[in-house]
Amino acid sequence: MKQFISAHDVTDINALVAKALKYKDNPYIDKQLGFQKRIGLLFLNPSLRTRLSTQVAAQNLGMEPIVFNVDKEGWALEFTEGAIMNGTTVEHIKDAAPILGNYFDMLCIRTFPGLVNQQEDYSEKIIHQFIQYAGVPIVSLESATLHPLQSLTDIITIKESIALNSALQNKRPKVVLTWAPHIKSIPQCVSNSFSQWVNAWGEADFVITHPEGYDLDTQFTQGATITHHQEEALQDADFVYVKNWSSYEPYGQVLSKDDNWMMTNQKLALTHNAKVMHCLPVRRNVELSDEILDGANSLVTKQASNRVWAAQAVLASILEAQKK
Ligand code: CP
Repeated sequence: MKQFISAHDVTDINALVAKALKYKDNPYIDKQLGFQKRIGLLFLNPSLRTRLSTQVAAQNLGMEPIVFNVDKEGWALEFTEGAIMNGTTVEHIKDAAPILGNYFDMLCIRTFPGLVNQQEDYSEKIIHQFIQYAGVPIVSLESATLHPLQSLTDIITIKESIALNSALQNKRPKVVLTWAPHIKSIPQCVSNSFSQWVNAWGEADFVITHPEGYDLDTQFTQGATITHHQEEALQDADFVYVKNWSSYEPYGQVLSKDDNWMMTNQKLALTHNAKVMHCLPVRRNVELSDEILDGANSLVTKQASNRVWAAQAVLASILEAQKK
């Protein structure tokens, strides 16, 4: 693997999941792989799980991780080609990225969308300029449109749950992505990415449900069944992924805060005793009720814990490619 910014960087999702589960069973089996390798974790936006799980994963592989909170501690970066830098930005990515590429063997970047200019966000301008100028493998820790480490974790967690439940074996699981309300404008990244990965994985019947106006970019959802009727979508579901996102068209808007879309135990009763997933952080009793999050069907803690193994599988795959 040369980089990790989307499902397109993975040739065999099931093999990558198996690698992650191997690390879950034996975290230090490849402790020598990252010997004398340094990894830079650059945060242009906040994080809890991604930051810590990727550090742990790197250390499990013997790498030295260094975290840099660019948004709080670094110079304000400029990403526009030909910019006349007489404003607030201090350093151009063309100058900063090659230096970072000299300091580190691998760079991981978290950068959220602005949710103002759809074309700019969906061009993935920031992560692509790191790829262009850094000269070392780039790993997305969530970009303007996608969150691949989260999605790999989600597939790992679904596969792990299937392996533990005989009722789910020898059938295609029904996986439902449902929109949930939120108080503010939230990126489409997790939902785009989950859709892209479930479609690329190809081993589930995939349904997306959301209110009118919340259609995601079809480049990610193509292949899924899409409905505006949440209760219909939830019928016989085996996995329910709950997530808010802002509208794609018009871009970045909150069109609805309808609390009828919150996932509750009453809705869970419509499903095939579905396991419930969320990437976290979650707004309790807005997106998901306490009863679900604290109940037996919630996978959220397991899902977040699996972030370590997803990151470890990805970093190891890149290290292995560097050694060839
Ligand atoms: N799910 C997720 O990416 O969590 P953080 O934003 O805390 O990293």
